[in-house]
Amino acid sequence: MTVTASDDVTTNGEAGGGVAAVVVLAAGAGTRMKSSRSKVLHEVAGRSMLSWAVDAAEQVEPEHLVVVVGHQREQVEEHLREVAPAVITAVQDQQNGTGHAVMCGLAPLGEVTGTVIVTYGDVPLLSGETLVAMVGEHRRAGHAVTVLTARVPDPTGYGRIVRGDDGGIARIVEHKDASEAERAIDEINSGIYVFDADILHDGLASLGTDNAQGELYLTDVIGHANSVGRRVGAYVTDDLWQTEGVNNRLQLARMGAEMNRRIGEKWMLAGVTIIDPATTWIEDSVDIAPDVTLMPGTHLHGATSIATGAVIGPDTSLKDVEVGEEATITRSQGLLATVGARCQVGPYAYLRPGTELAADVRIGPFVETKRAVIGRGASIAHQGYVGDVEIGARTRLSAGTIVANDDGETRHSTTIGADAFVGANSVLVAPVSVADGAHVAAGSIVTEDVAPQGSDPRS
Ligand code: UD1
Ligand code: CA
Repeated sequence: MTVTASDDVTTNGEAGGGVAAVVVLAAGAGTRMKSSRSKVLHEVAGRSMLSWAVDAAEQVEPEHLVVVVGHQREQVEEHLREVAPAVITAVQDQQNGTGHAVMCGLAPLGEVTGTVIVTYGDVPLLSGETLVAMVGEHRRAGHAVTVLTARVPDPTGYGRIVRGDDGGIARIVEHKDASEAERAIDEINSGIYVFDADILHDGLASLGTDNAQGELYLTDVIGHANSVGRRVGAYVTDDLWQTEGVNNRLQLARMGAEMNRRIGEKWMLAGVTIIDPATTWIEDSVDIAPDVTLMPGTHLHGATSIATGAVIGPDTSLKDVEVGEEATITRSQGLLATVGARCQVGPYAYLRPGTELAADVRIGPFVETKRAVIGRGASIAHQGYVGDVEIGARTRLSAGTIVANDDGETRHSTTIGADAFVGANSVLVAPVSVADGAHVAAGSIVTEDVAPQGSDPRS
């Protein structure tokens, strides 16, 4: 295949200069996931594997970031439009091997000069720092190709690194093509490379399919570089996770646990107490202040943020929840809610979308809130449902209070003023309003507005 020059992409090849392109390979079938969803869209720590790969690639600030798509490409393209709209996609219709995939990836770029990086969409723990360090080493040492390698206890299945007399990489031999002696080599090819664009172009043009799999092997570019007298070096990592791909759901879970371990470690070093890191799951997008305590079984998702001094858990899940200073949330669930400073929530509370608790609010056991704006110091201390409601400061709703917001067809709003009191087992049938300082007797069914000095709707 020839790459046609439709436009020129140039960068200076000097250390510190830019990277012309990163090509992320993601066209493979991912059969072993047994999923209707593309393998690279499966998530690790709340983000798709592909978005982790794109993130790492972005850290080298390439002029072009190309993802090569093939299997289930509509899904992958749609996802990329959402999470990384600047990314270019290139289609590889038939998966004729990694060399062919890179040809497809370079095709939309025209003539590329300078540095080109190749990575995979299913290696979520590869970090941007590693890519930056590889580029630095590539330039410092004057390599034509720098390969990310690792020594592993079980190299079965991987391409093996065959070192030359000078310590450089002479070639890479695929497991299926390797001799007994070559299979004994424990240094493996991760599939992550930094290339000089000229050698990559010439190398790709020289590829053949005379191998065990009848594919165009990207790894043969290394042999080509050597044959024209250019040096190929290794960047050896001892962080094996950064070289590991995900092929099935066992590996996905292992990778998720490791990513979570790393995220937890980062927060602990930043001053967060995590009592049991193994059962505390924190997505990458979460923000946590120093002196927060996370109890066992805490799951923090999405755009959740926790302010200093707060104690979350045990057994609490929050997604897109903003928690104020010194709040406590115990054995509860929250989604799209804000919890003010010093609020006490739980155990067994359910904060649903549109819940906004001002400071010092108390939400007790078996209370469910939805589209509920609750004023400072108010309390719903024991059981109840409040939806489409505004509740004023210091107002107390006693056990079993229900704000009945739904008449079977539409939802209506309820307003309860400040310093009001609603007795146990009352139902406020929306739309209705309770005035500031009003008093509703226990067991009331409130269908009309309640006046300031208190009234008993039964009389
Ligand atoms: C490749 C390397 C091998 C290395 C291993 C690391 C080659 C020939 N071999 O193995 O040395 O140890 O990766 O995991 O390069 N892909 C495409 N299009 C294709 C083929 C693959 O996009 O036509 C993508 C896959 O989606 C995957 C990646 O490239 O993300 C690697 O493909 P895979 O088949 O897993 O790697 P191997 O060829 O077995
Ligand atoms: Ca693989």
